[in-house]
Amino acid sequence: MLYLPSEDSILLANCVKDYSGNIALDIGVGSGIITRALCENFKKVIGTDLEFEMLEKCNEDVVSNTSKDSNKKLKNERGFELVCADAAFVFKDNIFDLVVSNPPYLPEDYDNEGMKIHDEAIYGGKSGIEVTLKIIKSSLATLKREGKLLIIVSSLSNISRLQEFLELLNLNMKKIAEKRLFFETLFVVEIGFKNVT
Ligand SMILES: C[S@@+](CC[C@H](N)C(=O)[O-])C[C@H]1O[C@@H](n2cnc3c(N)ncnc32)[C@H](O)[C@@H]1O
Repeated sequence: MLYLPSEDSILLANCVKDYSGNIALDIGVGSGIITRALCENFKKVIGTDLEFEMLEKCNEDVVSNTSKDSNKKLKNERGFELVCADAAFVFKDNIFDLVVSNPPYLPEDYDNEGMKIHDEAIYGGKSGIEVTLKIIKSSLATLKREGKLLIIVSSLSNISRLQEFLELLNLNMKKIAEKRLFFETLFVVEIGFKNVT
């Protein structure tokens, strides 16, 4: 389903502006707001999404949008590619300086007739964290050792499961931004390998 930029998208798009490097990956590009922000500071940007329609929307957005502040063309021109793929499983080892994702993170929900609601843009599994764990797992092999993964986490999902998962894989997590909303709090967390010199 089409996902229009929301509070979570804006929060993450603002955070990625503090990072720069050679090559970045945006998992679940949606309408392209984060991909576009990455294009400002990375020479090459790759985006994936399960929905082909979202990739078309993202392509349109990144190509047609000039930087609103400066009225300039994107710095990296056509230095971005979009791939219809599940998370980061299709990529080779250790190529990305930065991986980012605003994943579907709400716990599964049911309609008035008790039927599970299917929307891969917003529901992230039984406790909301399952798709996030898959995205992190898929990113680890393709991230450089000194690379970072930025991901949105919601207070509505099972954060303690995420913490256990990262501990098990010997990964660091630090909170870099937070946004309180009426019904939930959103966090941007930075994940990296422990013991990197
Ligand atoms: C919450 S939306 C975020 C969209 C956009 N990045 C933004 O911040 O506005 C999540 C996006 O991830 C995509 N998605 C869900 N599961 C995915 C997966 N396993 N691999 C790639 N994309 C996925 C959905 O189709 C949707 O476009």
